[in-house]
Amino acid sequence: MAHLNSDPIGVFDSGIGGLTVVKTIMAKLPHENIIYFGDIARLPYGTKSVTTIRKFAAQTVKFLISQKVKAIVIACNTISAVAKDEVKNLAKNIPVIDVISSGSKASAFSSKNNKIGVIATPATINSDAYPTAIQKLNPKVQVFSQACSLFVPLIEEGFIDHVALELIAREYLQPLIRQQIDTLILGCTHYPLIKEVIAKIMGIHTNLIDPAISTSEELVQTLSMMKMFNLDNIAPDYRFFVTEIVPKFQSIGERFLKTQINHLELVTLD
Ligand code: DGL
Repeated sequence: MAHLNSDPIGVFDSGIGGLTVVKTIMAKLPHENIIYFGDIARLPYGTKSVTTIRKFAAQTVKFLISQKVKAIVIACNTISAVAKDEVKNLAKNIPVIDVISSGSKASAFSSKNNKIGVIATPATINSDAYPTAIQKLNPKVQVFSQACSLFVPLIEEGFIDHVALELIAREYLQPLIRQQIDTLILGCTHYPLIKEVIAKIMGIHTNLIDPAISTSEELVQTLSMMKMFNLDNIAPDYRFFVTEIVPKFQSIGERFLKTQINHLELVTLD
């Protein structure tokens, strides 16, 4: 018999993008309370230095620990790429799940021709975190990386169906098409929102991997192993904390989650 643990799951990101991960967690674990933290005031992280990203991540983790979370999900690829160890050290015995470890496990054996592409922010690409994690699991695989620095600002501007996005996406994806990859990791939390454009450009023979899915599956396994499910909570509590309240958090957030955001609170980190 699983033990009950009603403490919330802490999920964090540099901003809004991590809500794509929250959405998959809500679907897989509908009885769990969730605390989401988005560092809206200081995003984007993807173009910042490793030292800065690590400092911001440490501040956020301290906040989540103060909220008594039972597990921490790093929903941001950029933070997973450069600050995972810092997060784990601070979290001590609180389990930490991150999108890059989960996404790498999900993709390492998924390519038929052993050619995998990764698209992400410059910080994630520069860290080599995806190729390192994937090749550790499957040394036969070749990983081709492409930084797509304009995707996040375009998505945040709402240019999801815009012709400008498609033109820029074609430019970014062309080198990966030339390498004949058959698997492409959407290595940034925002990219699932433009999955249709990416799929159209890459064609039907490229398998697109969204690490959010494997991350929530890994969270389910972790809670199960540690007997920490919140089994019969019929009205889960979802609380959203941000470092700046901007109208677009509500609008884009509700578009990401396909549900209303009722509890939105401002926090200051130090
Ligand atoms: N959430 C970030 C990621 O997954 C992208 C946004 C940012 O650059 O802060 O890499």
